[in-house]
This record gives sequence, C-alpha cells and structure tokens, in this order.
Amino acid sequence: MGLNVIMMGPPGAGKGTQADRFARERGLPKISTGDILREGIKEQNPVALEAKKLMDRGELVDDATIIAIVRDRLARSDTRPGFVLDGFPRTVGQAAALDRLMDERAQGPLVVIDVVVPEQELVRRLDGRRICGRCGTNAEAGKPVCGKCGGELVVRADDDGQVVLERLKVYERATRPVLEYYRTRPTFRVVNGAQAPEQVARDVDRMIDDAAAAGGAARVAGERRVSARALE
Ligand code: AP5
Repeated sequence: MGLNVIMMGPPGAGKGTQADRFARERGLPKISTGDILREGIKEQNPVALEAKKLMDRGELVDDATIIAIVRDRLARSDTRPGFVLDGFPRTVGQAAALDRLMDERAQGPLVVIDVVVPEQELVRRLDGRRICGRCGTNAEAGKPVCGKCGGELVVRADDDGQVVLERLKVYERATRPVLEYYRTRPTFRVVNGAQAPEQVARDVDRMIDDAAAAGGAARVAGERRVSARALE
C-alpha cells in the first residue's frame, strides 16, 4: 500500500515547504502543479505559456489541463510507493478526478493535510518571499543567494500585492469547498501552520502517520464488510 499525501492550504501556508521536506525524508516524489507549470514556462512549453497568463493574474488554470498534467505524472513508476501532492487538487472537479485515478491505481488511501494559517500572516509571508531566479527554490532566511544553486534571488511573479489578494479570493471561492469534500474522511487532518517550521514538521509527520494508519484500518474494515456480504 502506498503513502499518498495531499498537502492543502492557502497561498503562503507553507504547504510547499512541508511537502518538500516530507517527500525528501520519506523518499517519495513531491508533485507540485505550480512547480510543473513554472518549469514548463521556463522551457517555453505552449500549454504552460498559456497557463502563465492566468497564473500572473492569480487565477486558476483550467481543470482539464491540470488533471492531464497530474494523470501523466502519477503514471510514472516512481509514484508506486506513494507521492506528496502540493497545490492539487484545487477544485472539487480536480478532487473527483483524483479519486477516479486513485481507484484505478488501487494503491492505498489518500491522506489529506490541511495547513491552516491566518490571512494576515499569509500576506506577510508572501510579501517577504524571495525565490531563486534560476531553480525556483524558496530563499532561506538570511542568505543573499540561493542555498541550493547559488542563483540570484527574485520576487515570484505572482507575489505582487494585488495578485496575492486575488489568489486568496480564488482560494476561498474554488478551493475551500475541496476541504468539505474531504473533511469527513478518516484520513483528513488539520495542522496549525502558524508555528515555527520545525514544529509544523513534527505535527505534519505525526498526523500523516496517524491518518495513514486510520486509512489502512478503514480499508480493512471495508474489505471485511464486502467479504461478509459475499458470504450472506
Ligand atoms: P502554487 O505554486 O501552488 O502556489 P500557491 O498555492 O499560491 O502556494 P505558494 O507556493 O505561494 O505557497 P505555499 O503554501 O507552498 O507556501 P511556501 O511553502 O512556498 O500555484 C501557483 C499558481 O499556479 C496558481 O495561482 C494557479 O494559477 C496555478 N496552479 C497551480 N496548481 C493549480 C491547480 N491544481 N489548479 C489550477 N491552477 C493551478 O511558503 C511561503 C513562504 O512562507 C516562504 O517564504 C516560506 O519560507 C515561508 N514559510 C513556510 N512555512 C513557514 C512557517 N511555518 N513560518 C514562517 N514562514 C514560513
């Protein structure tokens, strides 16, 4: 059974930071739809260049494009032990498509982590964020260049004040309903993201392990119910 994790939360909640760390520590691929789109833009991919017009305004890219990207990425063999999704799903349509993909894969439940941070703090973080102009990694506090590749630090194209406010509005309208889609599942957990990153990491790890165990137990109980019905 794979360890399949979704890291949810508004822009600036720290889902990328935690997804990156957790995936590295557990040897799983991190799949960020935002990163995939930004890499595509660098490579002048026509689909990504079209998406860039929406990203620069803080709007969502259409479901069909995003679902096709995720479907292709999840088809790669490195996702067999599991994966950490960051920034997907962002609409109920995307969540339903992911459920269909998970049914096809039959490799364990989805663990959903919602990282919660007050809006004022989100705006503060995005206002102060710098990323590497070369590899796109978030800058580390106090370092004048990228800690990973030495590249120059720049402001991310969609971290402009007005665009941030639009991204937060879009999150409330399109993505908050996804939380309701998942909330009643035994594998849904909420983490306080307004703590030091190390504390968030400890909470995330504990919650993922706990939710994965709950998902496994619910699955076994479901299989037993099916077997019992077959014997009736
Ligand atoms: P995407 O790249 O997914 O951006 P986002 O969701 O807006 O998220 P961010 O990367 O801004 O924030 P984060 O929560 O990952 O926080 P981070 O860890 O970086 O999407 C960009 C665009 O692509 C979208 O607007 C859309 O147009 C398009 N797109 C992508 N996916 C799509 C989809 N599924 N459907 C449709 N369109 C899609 O941290 C932020 C900052 O805070 C950093 O500086 C970090 O160092 C700092 N920080 C992190 N944790 C803490 C902490 N605990 N305390 C203090 N600071 C912290």
